[in-house]
Amino acid sequence: MRTFSIVKPDAVAAGHTGAILQALEGAGFRIAAMRMVRMTKSEAEGFYAVHRERPFFSSLTDFMSSGPAVVMALERDDAIAELRRLMGATNPADAAAGTIRARFASSIERNAIHGSDAPETAAFELGYFFPGVELT
Ligand code: RTP
Ligand code: MG
Repeated sequence: MRTFSIVKPDAVAAGHTGAILQALEGAGFRIAAMRMVRMTKSEAEGFYAVHRERPFFSSLTDFMSSGPAVVMALERDDAIAELRRLMGATNPADAAAGTIRARFASSIERNAIHGSDAPETAAFELGYFFPGVELT
């Protein structure tokens, strides 16, 4: 089973890409596809369209288009739930010790990593950055 993940621009800029990939592989995820991207504002808006009405949408899409990010397709059993567990809570103040966000996030917005939250969003997000790639 596959899920979609992003090492967000804050973590790439801080030089945490390698440590985050190591945490993912150490937790049993196989990297099935990976690419560095510099999202445009409109690509970030399309990716996070589900949050269009949220007060943080403009700030979030500015942040996600502020610098390079690493997009990945990750594979392991129960990949969606296991990645969310390894990421930790959205707000790093609430993230369990040892999780990627507890280790690397600096704020509720600049929180180091994205992971799909359901099979439907994983399918949309994988297709958004890896179109035409056979990932199922
Ligand atoms: P993600 O989608 O990035 O994996 O994060 P998530 O499920 O844990 O959180 P979600 O509610 O989907 O929010 C998406 C991203 O928006 C930013 N955010 N800012 N300022 C705020 O209150 C706020 N809340 C969320 C974060 O970058 C969050 O990961
Ligand atoms: Mg989310």
